[in-house]
Amino acid sequence: MSHEKHFFMRDPWIFDPRDQQPERTDSNLGFDTRALHAGFHPLQDLAPFRSFVPPITQSMTFPYEAFDKIPCPVYGRTRTPTNTLLEERLAALEGGEACVTAGSGSQALFNLIFTIARPGDNVVTSLNVFGEGYKQAATIFPERCQVEFRFVQDPGNPASWDALIDQQTGLIWVETPSNPCLFITDIAAIAEVAHSHAIPLLVDNTTATAALQTPMAMGADIVLLSITKFLAGNATVIGGAIIGPEALVEDIRWNTTEFIGSVMPPLEAWMTLQYLETLSMRMQRHSANAQTIAEYLSAHSKVTHVNYSGLPNHPQHELAHKQMLSHGGLLSFVVADGMAGAAKVMDAFKLIVHAVTFGTSRTICMHPATITHEHMTPQERAEAGIDDGLIRFSVGLENPEDIIADLKQALLTL
Ligand SMILES: Cc1ncc(COP(=O)(O)O)c(C=O)c1O
Repeated sequence: MSHEKHFFMRDPWIFDPRDQQPERTDSNLGFDTRALHAGFHPLQDLAPFRSFVPPITQSMTFPYEAFDKIPCPVYGRTRTPTNTLLEERLAALEGGEACVTAGSGSQALFNLIFTIARPGDNVVTSLNVFGEGYKQAATIFPERCQVEFRFVQDPGNPASWDALIDQQTGLIWVETPSNPCLFITDIAAIAEVAHSHAIPLLVDNTTATAALQTPMAMGADIVLLSITKFLAGNATVIGGAIIGPEALVEDIRWNTTEFIGSVMPPLEAWMTLQYLETLSMRMQRHSANAQTIAEYLSAHSKVTHVNYSGLPNHPQHELAHKQMLSHGGLLSFVVADGMAGAAKVMDAFKLIVHAVTFGTSRTICMHPATITHEHMTPQERAEAGIDDGLIRFSVGLENPEDIIADLKQALLTL
C-alpha cells in the first residue's frame, strides 16, 4: 500500500503552545446571552424566512448551482447549516475558536485521538475518566492503533503527570469533575505541565459544562463534550463535540468525520440549540439540588462515603471552588453492604430512575462497577474509588424534598 499522502487529505494539525486561539468577537457578551444568540440573528441570517427560532435544515445534501461550483455545505457527512450553528454556539460558550460535532461524546473522543495520535505515540491521562473513554484507552487504541495510554498514579499532583510524559506523548487528557467519582483536577497546573513539553491539553467538560467551568480560560487547548448529558439535558439526544483551534477542528472534520460519517443529525443539533438556551439556569438548579442531596447523604448512617466537591470535606473542595461557579448536578455515594446494598437501594427507588446516562432533568442513578467501569480491573476500580457499593446519582430538577423522601425510604432497606 502506498504511504504517499493523498491529494484530498487535509494537512495534520501541529500543536504549538505559542499559538493563541484568536479572541472571539463575542467574548464581551455574557454566557446566557451567548447561549441565546451566538451564531444566529433572525434578520441578518435568515432574511427570507424571518424566523425567530433558528430553523432546522433537515437535508443531508445541498444542490450545486453549477457543475464546478461546490456548495458549502455539500453533504451532511461534513456539516449541515443546523450543525454549523450548534458548533458556533458551543465554541462561543467554551470560548474556543471552532467546533466539530460528532455522533456521541465517545465518538468525539475517538475522532480526536485518531486525528492526533500516530502509532508509537502515547496519551497521558488518569483513571478518572468515563467508562467508554477508558475502554478506548485500554483496548482498541493500544491493540489496534499502537497508541499507548498512560494512567498517572497521583492525579492530584502535577509532577505525577509530568513524570509520564516523553517525546512520544501527543496529548494530555483530563476529565474534571470526573465521572463517576467527581475527582477534580487542577486545569491550570496541568496546562502548565503540558505546555512546558509543547503538548496540548484536552479537558472533558461534560460534567460541569461551560455554564460552570471554562477550561480554555484556564489554559486548556481542546475541550471534549458529551452533548448527551447536561447540555441536551433530558435523555432525548445523543451527540458530542470537540472545541479547539480551527486547524485541529478541520483536520478532524475532513479526515475523520467526513470519511466515516460520525455525524450528529440535524434534528438532534436543533434540539440541542433549544436546550442550550436554559443551560445556565438548569445548571444552577441542578447544583443547588445536588448540594442539598449531598449534605443529606453525608449525614446518613447507611452511607459510608459521598463524592461531591460542594462538600467541605471533599479533598479538592477549594480547587473546585476556584475552577467552577458551582459544583454541578452529579454526585456519587457508597452504601453499606457493597454491591448487595447498592442493588437493594436502587431496586427500592420509586421516583428515581435506574438507567444509563446522567444530566437529565429527572433524577437518575446507575451502578458504575457493573455498568460503565466493568472493564477496569478490580485494582484499577479501587484506585479510581469505584467501590462495589458506589451509586452514581445525577440529581435532577425536582423539588429536593421529594428526592430526599425517595432516598430515605430506599435507604431503609439496608
Ligand atoms: C465525562 C464524559 N465524557 C464523555 C462521555 C461520552 O458521552 P456519550 O455517551 O455521548 O458517548 C461520557 C459518557 O458517559 C462522559 O461521562
